[in-house]
Amino acid sequence: MSEYSFKIYEINAYISSLFLVEANGKFLLLDAGCSCDFKRVERFLNEKGKKLNDLKLVVVTHMHPDHAGAVKYFQKKGIPIASTEGAYMWYRGIGGFIQHKIDTFLAQFSAKRKQNILEPVNYKRKFKPDFLIKDGDYLPFFPEWKVIYIPGHTLYDIALYNEKYSILYLADLILKIEDKFVLPFPVIFPRMMNQSLVKIQQCNFNTLLFAHGGVLDARRANIDFLKVINELTSAIGKLQRPEFKFFYPFCLFIHDKWLCKLRGCDK
Ligand SMILES: [Fe+2]
Repeated sequence: MSEYSFKIYEINAYISSLFLVEANGKFLLLDAGCSCDFKRVERFLNEKGKKLNDLKLVVVTHMHPDHAGAVKYFQKKGIPIASTEGAYMWYRGIGGFIQHKIDTFLAQFSAKRKQNILEPVNYKRKFKPDFLIKDGDYLPFFPEWKVIYIPGHTLYDIALYNEKYSILYLADLILKIEDKFVLPFPVIFPRMMNQSLVKIQQCNFNTLLFAHGGVLDARRANIDFLKVINELTSAIGKLQRPEFKFFYPFCLFIHDKWLCKLRGCDK
């Protein structure tokens, strides 16, 4: 009888937390991190006595610099990338070109707020995924992880859900800043964000993984998530921080926002 082994490691990356899942000696990386995070992941694996080629898959939940920045380096080493079809097209066109510059700048802005020494975050705005995934799919090589489509922050965000262990990786749907739950910046598709928050409530989770906020044991935390979701849905469209008010108009150049406006699929 074989014994199934499973562990999750959190890597404190440049801007976000990266989660490295070990299942039966194979590794899965939940988001690629910034371009400068490639070395962090490699170092982390080496410290565990593992090699980069023990990493079998990297999933990109959306195209922001702290989630897709290191894609090129993983692909160069032959590690496959899984992403949704739309995600890697997010920065297409002239609007995408401008948005990509803005998001790269905002990534460094966040890094500076964390008082990190600044590291490079430049990355290409497009890439070719090795595996295309969509809502309801199970990940290649790691079929215990299910893809959940959660647009709002961008048009193509996904969360990843491990039903067997009741673990939910939220990517940038919700951020946990100290003991507060907040919406990501920006929310480009408000109505879709509302639907995504409601959708995620239906998952039966014991552990939440936040790209910004780390691991939360939801059973011990004694948090009323229904209340949290209600508070977050009513906060959609409210920009609390002065810098968000300044940057928000610049976040609306993106091609898909205009397409949705024309089609009336979001407000
Ligand atoms: Fe993001």
